Amino acid sequence: MSVENSLLTKLHQKTSSKWRKYDPDILPMHVAEMDFDIAPEIKAEIINRVQRGDLGYLGPIPELGPAFQSFTNARWGWQLNSELISLAADVGVAAIEIFRVLTQPGDSILINSPVYTNFYTWIEESKLNLVDVLLLKSESGWELDLDGIEKAFKSGVKLYLLCNPQNPVGRVHRQSELTAIAELSSKYGVSVISDEIHAPLTYSENSFIPYLTIADAAEYGYVITSASKAWNIAGLKAAMILPGSRSAANRISKMPPAVHWRTSIVGAIAMVTAFQDSINWLDQTLSVLDQNRFLLKDLLHTHLPEIEYQVPESSYLAWLNLSSLGPNANWHDQILKQGKVSIVPGQDYGKHYPEYVRLNFATYPQVLEEGIIRLAKGVK
Ligand SMILES: Cc1ncc(COP(=O)(O)O)c(C=O)c1O
Repeated sequence: MSVENSLLTKLHQKTSSKWRKYDPDILPMHVAEMDFDIAPEIKAEIINRVQRGDLGYLGPIPELGPAFQSFTNARWGWQLNSELISLAADVGVAAIEIFRVLTQPGDSILINSPVYTNFYTWIEESKLNLVDVLLLKSESGWELDLDGIEKAFKSGVKLYLLCNPQNPVGRVHRQSELTAIAELSSKYGVSVISDEIHAPLTYSENSFIPYLTIADAAEYGYVITSASKAWNIAGLKAAMILPGSRSAANRISKMPPAVHWRTSIVGAIAMVTAFQDSINWLDQTLSVLDQNRFLLKDLLHTHLPEIEYQVPESSYLAWLNLSSLGPNANWHDQILKQGKVSIVPGQDYGKHYPEYVRLNFATYPQVLEEGIIRLAKGVK
């Protein structure tokens, strides 16, 4: 058996959605999970907890605020107010629970496509009216359309769900863009929820700017985030809600206390361990991903030079433009059947993107190479 095969056999033993959605002849490169082992500190914490039998309901967790604060301060110079943090089972639950207290069914919420698939499902589940101001594609990447956003704010949207860094395009939104958004938010009284789950995976040449470090953001701003993406622990189910100010916190104070109790104690403590003790692991993982984003560029150049790929500024998702290969309403199915590799169709990120697919490159170099060889077979 070749190294690749034994590695793939080992990976196929995983039981997560990534590895169970398709038959074993398919190489999964769709869902945003990494193929790497988890941080040793998190592993040790979970093992100790299991050995002690400490698996009850989540109570107060005073360790979390200071752990997250020391991480954000060291990483981004952000001295957040840790007293305002509350917990939710995941970022999706955090978003939906904020929607529930800040809106009525039928209210309008703004997003910018292409954007994370579940923004659509959360909005649909909450019976909100979706307003989409598309990102603008420029030489430097995908930019926020500030004029379009102002028009949407003027027209009465209640909420703005911002994705920073933005899945699937890997864009880190710029300070000037965030400043403009915060000013608009104050001017029109629109609450802004900034989903910053990918932020710890920002590559060193870019500066990630936490939304709540922007002067005007505090009054109407919320950050929702988790260690789950960057430390690869999505199954542990814990996330955070951080209002920018007391008044923003007061506006969501009707959120039921059960939102906290429904969070996993293992997930919550794993977040503490991640932010406090697993920084070396994060940096090593980021350096592997950094190499992968350029390895992917080389592999595409060799096997699929027609495909357009902008190296992401953050995280491990590649947004690939297949338009030069000709029209195809269903790249996903063709690539799956012919190439035996699963990617996510562009339409999952917005109806305007059928010529795109998203590929996850958080894997071993030989698996990534195999994936691109299969992708090349899939599109021919
Ligand atoms: C922008 C964004 N938010 C949220 C999530 C999912 O977070 P959770 O599993 O905590 O709901 C993802 C997953 O890929 C994501 O890309």
